[in-house]
Amino acid sequence: MTPKHKIFLIGFSGSGKTSTGKLLARKLKIPFVDTDQIIEKTLGMATSDIFDRLGEPVFRRTERDLIAELAGNDEGCVVSLGGGAFQSAANRKIVSAVGTVIYLRCSVQIIYQRLKDNSDRPLLLTESRGLTLRQAMIDQITCMLSQRKRNYEKADMTISTSQRTPAQVVSEIIGQMRKR
Ligand code: S3P
Repeated sequence: MTPKHKIFLIGFSGSGKTSTGKLLARKLKIPFVDTDQIIEKTLGMATSDIFDRLGEPVFRRTERDLIAELAGNDEGCVVSLGGGAFQSAANRKIVSAVGTVIYLRCSVQIIYQRLKDNSDRPLLLTESRGLTLRQAMIDQITCMLSQRKRNYEKADMTISTSQRTPAQVVSEIIGQMRKR
C-alpha cells in the first residue's frame, strides 16, 4: 500500500462501513471520510430530510460530485460510501480507477437487527402492507440486497462482517491487502 492509496468500503446500510472504516483508517494512519456525513454537511440537513425535501436525485447528484472530488486528490484515505453509491456505473468506474474497493457483506438478519430502530435510512421506510413492520423491513432489505448484490460483487475484495467485530474485520482486510 502506498501512502496515496485510497480504500473504498461499500455494502448495504448496517454492514459496518463506518465502524470498520474508522478503525481501519486509524490502523493505517490515514484519514477517514464518510460520504453521507459530508453530503449532510454540504446540504445542511439529515439524509432523511434530503430525501423528503429535496428528493433522491439531489442526494445522488451531490454524492456523485463528492466521489469525483475525492477521487481527484491524491491523498490516501479510507472512504465509507453510502449503500447506493456503487450502483452507479459512473461512480464504480471512478472509484475503481483510484483505489481498492472492499465489499463488506452482511446477512439480512444482522442488517435488520442493526437498523430496526434507526429512522435515518429513508429507502428502508416501507409500507407494511398488512405485514408486521419487522417482516416488511426484512422483505425490503432482502429485495434491495438481491438487486444490488451483482454490483457489490464487482469489488476488488469481499469480506464478511456478519458475526464479526470491527477489529476482526479490519485485521482480515489488512491481511488480505498484504497478500495482494
Ligand atoms: C443509501 C444508504 C445510506 C445513504 C442513503 C442511501 C442507500 O448510506 O447513503 O440513505 O441507497 O442504500 P449507508 O449505507 O451509510 O446507510
